[in-house]
Amino acid sequence: MASRTTRASASPLFVPRKSDRRTARAARHQFAAARDQARHAARPAARPTAPGLDPELRATYPAAGRPGPASARGGRLKLPAHRMTTATASGAYPFLAEGGLGAQGIYIGRDVHAEAAFTYDPFALYGRLDGFTNPNILLAGIIGMGKSALAKSLAVRAVAFGYRIYVPCDPKGEWTVVAQELGGQTIALGPGLPGRLNPLDAPARPYGVSEEDWITEVRKRRLLLLGSLAKTVLGRELHPMEHTALDVALDQVVAYAEANGTTPLLGEVAYVLGSPERLDAALGELSGRLGHAAEDLAHALRRLVHGDLAGMFDAPSTVAFDPSAPMLSIDLSRLGGAGDDTALVLAMTCASAWMESALADPSGGRRWVIYDEAWRVMRHVALLERMQSQWKLSRGLGIANLMVIHRLSDLLAAGDAGSRGRALAEGLLTDCSTRIIYRQEADQLASATALLGLTGVETQAVSALTKGRGLWKVAGRSFITQHLLHSRERELFDTDARMGAITRP
Ligand SMILES: Nc1ncnc2c1ncn2[C@@H]1O[C@H](COP(=O)(O)OP(=O)(O)OP(=O)(O)O)[C@@H](O)[C@H]1O
Ligand SMILES: [Mg+2]
Repeated sequence: MASRTTRASASPLFVPRKSDRRTARAARHQFAAARDQARHAARPAARPTAPGLDPELRATYPAAGRPGPASARGGRLKLPAHRMTTATASGAYPFLAEGGLGAQGIYIGRDVHAEAAFTYDPFALYGRLDGFTNPNILLAGIIGMGKSALAKSLAVRAVAFGYRIYVPCDPKGEWTVVAQELGGQTIALGPGLPGRLNPLDAPARPYGVSEEDWITEVRKRRLLLLGSLAKTVLGRELHPMEHTALDVALDQVVAYAEANGTTPLLGEVAYVLGSPERLDAALGELSGRLGHAAEDLAHALRRLVHGDLAGMFDAPSTVAFDPSAPMLSIDLSRLGGAGDDTALVLAMTCASAWMESALADPSGGRRWVIYDEAWRVMRHVALLERMQSQWKLSRGLGIANLMVIHRLSDLLAAGDAGSRGRALAEGLLTDCSTRIIYRQEADQLASATALLGLTGVETQAVSALTKGRGLWKVAGRSFITQHLLHSRERELFDTDARMGAITRP
């Protein structure tokens, strides 16, 4: 009995000695519960979240992992420790999250599965990632999911890396404020505005290119532009004689401008096209037919000179291209609001020709060219052709092109199966090593899956993405990434403000 009295245990204090076994057990449980409660009370409260912290920055699951029985963390499953190589581990546990693209690059936000920072830089990935053959990006998503916000963030953050940003097509005029903040330039074009762009401007000859080669290159670019403009207005391909007429008219205008020390203008080309005797005289042996064949062309170019775009593209440029400016955007928001895209497309053709010729210098550093609302131009073969040539040049010139569309079927809208438009649009997609898919409508999932080769899980994920969250397919690797905006960026990129103003009482 003495041994009982000297027991070094506190349980007799709580468990009366004379109780039966059941009462003793119940009392023991009560004691354990009280002890746990006391322990938890002593623990400091959960770490408070800093006020204003972005809810997106909070971890999806607590540090102990996903709660609930599916986590297999009930404490009952006890496996012996097992050591293996990472190669074997990835085979044994194929459902682990991707490791990310490395720390080099522009911060985008959070990799939702790995819960790690997600960075991306097409120039840094080029040559480092298998299958990453070009720096071009396709960004698709339904209205208001944050596509422009992502493009603007990329632009703002890329400037810190020394890249320059060019936005040749801003149909909503929402990039102007970004350009201003970054100390860049904006040219606003529209009826009644003072901005003028001469798409026939000859860019400065890049270092290392011979005078003769450059003259041929400039001529080729001008002809391509005139051809695009004519095709857009006429809505058809040009006939061989029309090509010749453009050739002849351009050469005459350029010769005249050189002799007088001026720059050629679109109006002058239109004037020569409208003068059959001048064309016929210039061509000689085929006389009598060229002037007649150019009639349609002359009327087509007239729209740019006397029609709704009068003045904008038929005068010396009011801005000089400044290659050292961090950003340049062309605001076309005053054009094409009335449903007729032709004015917008013509303006965009001229504006992008002007900008592209300025971008032709391969020593101009690394640049981003952003086509916001590119879906509006996908139906116009002439513009698709321009985009395609930019896409093809991207590696040689050090340019990353970013194209923003709503749906993948915008690419299919470029033409019927087998048509040139469709082939061009699909070519653009093929030449985008990075595809960022924001939320798609249910009826769009099938075309997205077919065009991008999404897996079943990816398709399901795309249908449930929230604002700022996208499926990033980078050369065959997939990430679900939440784009995080800095509070200053959020203010700057807010396109909901007008909606808010309407709903507020
Ligand atoms: N990652 C984000 N976090 C918080 N807010 C965001 C995020 N991305 C976008 N927003 C906000 O959502 C609104 C809509 O974004 P945005 O204009 O970029 O959409 P969009 O996809 O370009 O739409 P549209 O197709 O109409 O051009 C903006 O006010 C923007 O500030
Ligand atoms: Mg947008």
